[in-house]
Amino acid sequence: MNIPKSIAIDGPASSGKSTIGLRLAERLGYLFFDTGIMYRAVTLAVIRAGINVEDENRVTQLARHVQIDVRPPTVADGRKEDVLLDGEDVTWAIREPEVEKWVSKVSAYAGVRKAMTELQRQIGKRGRVVMVGRDIGTVVMPDADLKIYLDASLEERARRRYLELVQRGEVVKFEDVLAGLKQRDQIDTSREVAPLKAAEDAVVLNTDGMNIEEVMKKVFELFEDCGNE
Ligand code: DC
Repeated sequence: MNIPKSIAIDGPASSGKSTIGLRLAERLGYLFFDTGIMYRAVTLAVIRAGINVEDENRVTQLARHVQIDVRPPTVADGRKEDVLLDGEDVTWAIREPEVEKWVSKVSAYAGVRKAMTELQRQIGKRGRVVMVGRDIGTVVMPDADLKIYLDASLEERARRRYLELVQRGEVVKFEDVLAGLKQRDQIDTSREVAPLKAAEDAVVLNTDGMNIEEVMKKVFELFEDCGNE
């Protein structure tokens, strides 16, 4: 039996990648690494530094120099990890609407992606990892042992995201959540460098109408099937 050591999970915003990836990693005792965090942290750093998001050169320079650390959670407030930006806890700040608004733009810059991809590959090389993002199976870990592309309709993803935000106590309108996701999908899939798409050898799983347990069951079956090949 050849147990998959590197697992890539890609998919659009709010497709359940992080939730499923984290559960799978916990079950296997693997490292969970959510690459979206890095692009979010760079975007927050850009906003805080007062840099114009349209200024690709300055954004790229900053991306090369910021210090992003992701560590096991130290606070029991629903977080999956601690995210530190230049030493400061920004775990929740990177989830703010202002970051959501600009992150697709920042993550479309080639220089930003180069800097982040390099760091992600270093982590991937260690093995025993579940890495989630948009380009893990296509660019970051093209040799991953198992590649899964989690998909769901825009409406279903907007519903999940809306509920998540409401549960967190945020005041949002469903239409705004839907429009925001639609815009991010558009930028993520149409950018020139590493656009969001399923790798040719990825298993595509459409999760419309499935709950987390059902998706998890299916994903674990894929893991076992892959190991038995
Ligand atoms: O998964 P997320 O919503 O936290 O990702 C935030 C943004 O980062 C998303 O709009 C696209 C970008 N991203 C990316 O371009 N490549 C990745 N591997 C992960 C995220």
